[in-house]
Amino acid sequence: MAKEYKRTLITTALPYTNGPVHIGHLAGVYIPADIYARYLRLAGRPVTMIGGSDEHGVPITLKARKEGVTPQDIVDRYHKLIKESFEGLGISFDIYSRTTSKIHSDTASEFFRRLYDKGEFIEKTSEQLYDPEAKQFLADRYVTGECPHCHNQGAYGDQCEACGTTLAATELINPKSTITGATPELRQTKHWYLPLDKWEPRLREWILEGHKEWKTNVYGQCKSWLDLGLQPRAVSRDLSWGVPVPVEGAEGKVLYVWFDAPIGYISNTKELMPDSWETWWKDPETRVINFIGKDNIVFHCIVFPAMLMAYGDNFQLPDNVPANEFLNLEGDKISTSRNWAVWLHEYLADFPGKQDVLRYVLTANAPETKDNDFTWKDFQARNNNELVAILGNFVNRVVVLTHKYYEGAVPAPGEYTQLDREMIDEMQALKASLTENLETFHFREALKDAMGFARLGNKYLQDCEPWKTVKTDPERVKTIMYLCAQLCANIAVVMEPFMPFMSEKLVKILGGVNLNWNEVGSTDIIKAGTVLGEAELLFEKIDDSAIQKQTDRLEAIKKANAMAAFQPEKVLPEVGIDDFAKLDLRIGTVLECQAVPKANKLLRFTIDDGTPSHRTIVSGIAKFYKPEELVGKQVIFIANLAPAKIRGIESQGMILSALNADGSLVVAAPSAKCTPGAQVK
Ligand code: 2FM
Ligand code: ZN
Repeated sequence: MAKEYKRTLITTALPYTNGPVHIGHLAGVYIPADIYARYLRLAGRPVTMIGGSDEHGVPITLKARKEGVTPQDIVDRYHKLIKESFEGLGISFDIYSRTTSKIHSDTASEFFRRLYDKGEFIEKTSEQLYDPEAKQFLADRYVTGECPHCHNQGAYGDQCEACGTTLAATELINPKSTITGATPELRQTKHWYLPLDKWEPRLREWILEGHKEWKTNVYGQCKSWLDLGLQPRAVSRDLSWGVPVPVEGAEGKVLYVWFDAPIGYISNTKELMPDSWETWWKDPETRVINFIGKDNIVFHCIVFPAMLMAYGDNFQLPDNVPANEFLNLEGDKISTSRNWAVWLHEYLADFPGKQDVLRYVLTANAPETKDNDFTWKDFQARNNNELVAILGNFVNRVVVLTHKYYEGAVPAPGEYTQLDREMIDEMQALKASLTENLETFHFREALKDAMGFARLGNKYLQDCEPWKTVKTDPERVKTIMYLCAQLCANIAVVMEPFMPFMSEKLVKILGGVNLNWNEVGSTDIIKAGTVLGEAELLFEKIDDSAIQKQTDRLEAIKKANAMAAFQPEKVLPEVGIDDFAKLDLRIGTVLECQAVPKANKLLRFTIDDGTPSHRTIVSGIAKFYKPEELVGKQVIFIANLAPAKIRGIESQGMILSALNADGSLVVAAPSAKCTPGAQVK
């Protein structure tokens, strides 16, 4: 039997404020956390949900440098955008603050100072990478190079995103400064290290013995870290943006962002509850749950717990860390720097009133046990085939029929039949499974159970056919419609954690329902006689054009990325002028151009080459031009290429085209009108 706690403190990874939040963040962290918080509130269990912006760290200073603004400008901009878009999606934080707040820097400084005073750090001078041009040390993302493990060329000084390994900047092969591109040199500098090895036995016992119930991805990552053996970890950096290291002789040094950020959970709790925050962190009757993405596991399960152990004072370690895997977008890794994402603020602007659709799709498709893929086609299908066709349809039928038969007033039921009792049993079984899935952080399965109430409703209506029975046994229909109203009320409750906007609308339609988890499964949530509001569509179909707009946008981004990443092909081995002179390049004018039947790449040209007979050339550019676009245009062609048969047509030469970065072919042409047959020298 799991321990009953008095209260739950939910923390959500504090997103970096170097860009907006995207669907990967939402599916991995914020939607699951919000579902859980809302569920606990409905169950009447005390809960506080902490959020906030992580406003330090190198990605922010890099972005500021790129834009020529200050890091403060960057964090102000994105903190506001992120906070507002979370509100727009109904993420129900009790506080959403920021790590540039005074209370945070005081809290983080005090935390460091206490560890320092207790002798919990090792002070070490070591050689670190230094950019002689920028005149600064290169920590973390200020340096890129080759990963020593998987040989990815674009690994960062703190992590290789290709193989997921955590790195020290000095481990990179051929490092380069991301500020100036310079090759860094090694210089001596002093830093403070937290000896994680000291805490290894306690961490082992706490996780490997005490938390076998954690998700396998989380437990497995912790086990491999612990089995590799923990090392002391630097908790300071030579940077100017961050919380200054609060000790003598630490000028120009700040706390490492991963030291200060998790303390943000504590400072934000303090800001929210200045008088009672300690109960939420230090009372063993509090249960702390950290919602994070998989790249944050080591910091939440090893580093921050070691910091809390070193601090002492009864700080509670997380009881669970339900980290998710990653969400991809249309088959590709989501990336802020490549703009390959669906941004929350843009979604809210493009799909007003459809917050719940995104919440639903991201939960139904959540990367709980493995990486998953978001596609716009799936988004549309889930909306149209599930939300509209199953949930919206059931509620609508119930409301319409209640108005038709009883002027909207929920009728009093008669005696329940066997069929009714089976439906009620089924509803209670769904509640049991749903509650168990929520308790164990299986939100995808929980959503299936919640949708089960609507599926059950449709089946019940279909089995009972009140529209037929009303003619033969109107009394029986009263019981059917009463129970259908109860099913709708149950839906309003069980769906609230997943789709709070829909639930609110449904509560209004049902003439007011008290949302209480303890009543789920009950058949008297709505009293007989309650008058239902007018039928109102809970969900609308999403048409192809709205989806096309989104996929076109992604297509354009893909193209722009390919252009930006373009590297010219390596130049071929040198040739002498005599070799070049062997090629007879000429200008020709396109007289005719047609598609070659049954060959989707080929166009057939008739070229005026200055001779009365003209010539035919077949070229593989049909994907990039309509034939009529090219008529009258001038081209450059190889006039003395040996003729070749292509699809039965003799091609007498080759038209020259450039292979563009996005893979398209562009016909090369003279910059001014030339005489057909003129030689290109
Ligand atoms: O990965 C990230 O986006 C980090 N900013 C998460 C920090 S979580 C916490 F420790 F603050
Ligand atoms: Zn790697």
